[in-house]
Amino acid sequence: MKENFFLFPGSSNLPLSQEISKILKNPLGKINLKTLPDNEISVEILEDVHDCDVFVVQSIAKNPNYYLMELLLIVDALKRSRARSICAVIPYFGYARQDRRDKEGVPISAKLVADLLEKAGVNKIITINLHSAQIQGFFNIPVMELSASSLFLKEFQKLSLKTLVVGPDFGSYKIAKSFAKDLNLEYGLIDKKRIDERNVKVNTIFGNVLDKDIILVDDLSSTGDTLIKAADCCKKNGAKKIFACIVHALVDTNIFENEAFEKFYFTNSISNIEYTEFKNVEIISVGPLLAKAIRCFLDSKSALVLSKS
Ligand code: R5P
Repeated sequence: MKENFFLFPGSSNLPLSQEISKILKNPLGKINLKTLPDNEISVEILEDVHDCDVFVVQSIAKNPNYYLMELLLIVDALKRSRARSICAVIPYFGYARQDRRDKEGVPISAKLVADLLEKAGVNKIITINLHSAQIQGFFNIPVMELSASSLFLKEFQKLSLKTLVVGPDFGSYKIAKSFAKDLNLEYGLIDKKRIDERNVKVNTIFGNVLDKDIILVDDLSSTGDTLIKAADCCKKNGAKKIFACIVHALVDTNIFENEAFEKFYFTNSISNIEYTEFKNVEIISVGPLLAKAIRCFLDSKSALVLSKS
């Protein structure tokens, strides 16, 4: 019997939406997404969603303003078509780094994005590794924040390395610490200073990297400079192999030629089909994790079952 729910893809990550749909054995909902000649976005839902639970998969990355607006318009269309519930499945929640007023004159962009989603009609959120967990509190609706760490752990259990987990900046402290705990390894931390939007500088490294293999763990790599400077610093201090483990990857492919790195592990939370041709890049899919989370909502089960599976 066909279930009474729809899964719609935004245009940011169609392969991931297709994978989730396949796992849930529910074909993607038909939707017409277009850019009009004046660059406005046009959305048309081609299904009868009345009284149905609906999930929309969209990452806010690479072209964040476009994908955010597209998501808002899809949600508005679903709300006006009287969907019973609308869950935004946002594998990568963009604008998350702008989550506080660290100087005068700046917005709290992550809060504004949360408000826009709620105002449009979203009543549940599923997401993966928010830049800071406190962003959950920017919403007045349920937020299921999943962790992709366990997906990487399986890879390193296979390698069984004698390693040190290193967080490439103070912001990565929590993810690096819990990653190290799960692998039963020690961890270290780098004190980084951001010089501008594209460049960072390493001040100090805490932890002994001499003769160790290193796993650099972070939620996000954008320009890649944080990773590159962290790897340089570890190498200068006598580290052996360097592995990078990043949940959300936006990096330019040039970084894959950097000899400091042995291998890169990313998820597909952001569409990254162009990475798959590089031998030193391993993409780990978040599709099964997101499908399980959707299944939890559909079956009204607690998210706790996810940590037990
Ligand atoms: C910062 O807090 C994040 O965790 C990342 O370390 C940072 O956003 C990476 O930026 P980039 O790759 O541009 O150096």
